[in-house]
Amino acid sequence: MCGIIGAVAQRPVADILIEGLRRLEYRGYDSAGLAVLDSTNRLQRSRAVGKVAMLATKLLETPIDGKTGIAHTRWATHGKPAEMNAHPHVSGTWLGVVHNGIIENYLALREKLGSYGYGFDSETDTEVIAHLVALHLKREGSLLKATLKARQEFKGAYALAILSPEEPNTLVVARQGSPLIIGLGIGENFVGSDIQAMLPVTNRFIYLENGDVAYVGLHKIEIYNEEGELVERPIRESRAKDSASELGEYRHFMLKEIFEQPTAIASTLENRLASGHFLPSIVGQNVMETLAKVEEIQIIACGTSYHAGMVGRYWIESMTDIPCTVEVASEYRYRRQPLRKNMLFVTISQSGETADTLAALEKIKEAKGCLASLSICNVAESSLVRESDMNLMTVAGPEIGVASTKAFTTQLLALQLLLGTLIQAKTGETDASRKLAQDLQLLPILVEQVLELNPVIEKLAEQFIDKHHSLFLGRGAQYPIALEGALKLKEISYIHAEAYPAGELKHGPLALVDSEMPVVAIAPTGLLLEKLKSNLEVVHARGGQLYVFASQNAQMKPDEQTHVIELPAVPEMLAPIVYTIPLQLLAYHVAVLKGTDVDKPRNLAKSVTVE
Ligand code: F6R
Repeated sequence: MCGIIGAVAQRPVADILIEGLRRLEYRGYDSAGLAVLDSTNRLQRSRAVGKVAMLATKLLETPIDGKTGIAHTRWATHGKPAEMNAHPHVSGTWLGVVHNGIIENYLALREKLGSYGYGFDSETDTEVIAHLVALHLKREGSLLKATLKARQEFKGAYALAILSPEEPNTLVVARQGSPLIIGLGIGENFVGSDIQAMLPVTNRFIYLENGDVAYVGLHKIEIYNEEGELVERPIRESRAKDSASELGEYRHFMLKEIFEQPTAIASTLENRLASGHFLPSIVGQNVMETLAKVEEIQIIACGTSYHAGMVGRYWIESMTDIPCTVEVASEYRYRRQPLRKNMLFVTISQSGETADTLAALEKIKEAKGCLASLSICNVAESSLVRESDMNLMTVAGPEIGVASTKAFTTQLLALQLLLGTLIQAKTGETDASRKLAQDLQLLPILVEQVLELNPVIEKLAEQFIDKHHSLFLGRGAQYPIALEGALKLKEISYIHAEAYPAGELKHGPLALVDSEMPVVAIAPTGLLLEKLKSNLEVVHARGGQLYVFASQNAQMKPDEQTHVIELPAVPEMLAPIVYTIPLQLLAYHVAVLKGTDVDKPRNLAKSVTVE
């Protein structure tokens, strides 16, 4: 999704901006652009459809540079991907703006600005920002005052960075709903929608809050809150490693991140367990009293994180008497629900910036509809973490590939940590909670072992490249894993993939099965194994091609229609995490063979900060 980088410096900034945009590429985008104030203080702009590399080439052919600049990667919402719609947008020679988010009342503002004589060169909502701030700039005489005035008229979500020849060495930025961060240098300062973009130039950051507008100069930063009062925001030093955005020996970030899972899991476990005990501090200080009161759990998330929530529900209800429901945030936020007593509201999000998930949290908080909110999140500085009462951080490290991998498995692990902590809060330590804590220690090594299947799965992937459709089957807590396997395959290889609980096959989807239909099944040992085997018999009898990821103890027999990929025997509670790995590898290798853009699949964005 859209990305912003900006700089006010005493050196040329075009290269810093281009490098920043490269680091934002993982978020997904369709065009890129940059605007600088040149040595004569004129506003110069360059934009290109396609990759940041196209913009960089354009700048080599027709160089522009200056010491104050803003740049953007655009993911089309209003208007097609085209140069005229790419940011920065300008208002004549008055100013340039880059924008993440959506201005919901842009049509009304467009009409109003039209009546003042402003013409529009794009189909975007962003251009109204440029003209409205320019209108106020003419009246107020200062870019900061103009932005403070204009923002009163914007409805929607935005992160903005604005520059103007009227005020050299200045950026004015604003945040409402979309993240925006100021990066602090010495005699220079930066702004970005993501710290990754600024890590080559600084590791000291100020995270703006909703409603903030800030003046960013060479030596001075002033932040005004929603009420227009001058405020201080804390400076945070980031330990995020620049190397996280390097590929190293890997061909794609997705493969790198799949192989980072043993480390990500080990890091997420670190300091959270002690001799069969879940350390309550994992979700915050003095939380046991609150957790002891929980009578219901509502989990809210989107996409892959939603699948994690679905598995969480199976686990929570299998080991406690707490009813748990799971819903996608985009539906929950608009649905009327009766308020429930002593409900723990759990949000799951890799980025912590997903607009629908944040809106669902806001809704429940406004209604005072829960006992407490708890986020499971991978980004400590994110909006979700800041807005939640309690947080359980996954320690997966930055995830660059658009298709979520290590974030998902660490979310599953976090749900188990939450489960163990809940059991302890409600009933004290039990044999089951102790066993869970012990089993969890095995996870990094089990995941390591399953990764050794990589060459086998790479070979297997060849059988999928000419397929147009596929089915994924699982039962119990493996059903959401089947959903996740199907999502991975469709999003990066563009093969249509659907997942079903295997017992549901006979109620319709069986009609799709023939010798052309690959059917992927997940078959660990457990209560439902024999049921699953019967479901697979039915597929076999209709000529379906079966690809079964099975426990070595499952006694699955291969034949000309049945490919069995054996996994080590694992404790039942760990199986969903372990069986995710081969499905990630399968999707990855199919996509590589099909030659798709694995890390940046078409139409998708890493961080979905708009509705
Ligand atoms: C798919 C994927 C998405 C995200 C979803 C929610 O591989 O990554 O489905 O899971 O957009 O994002 P977060 O977890 O950041 O809230």
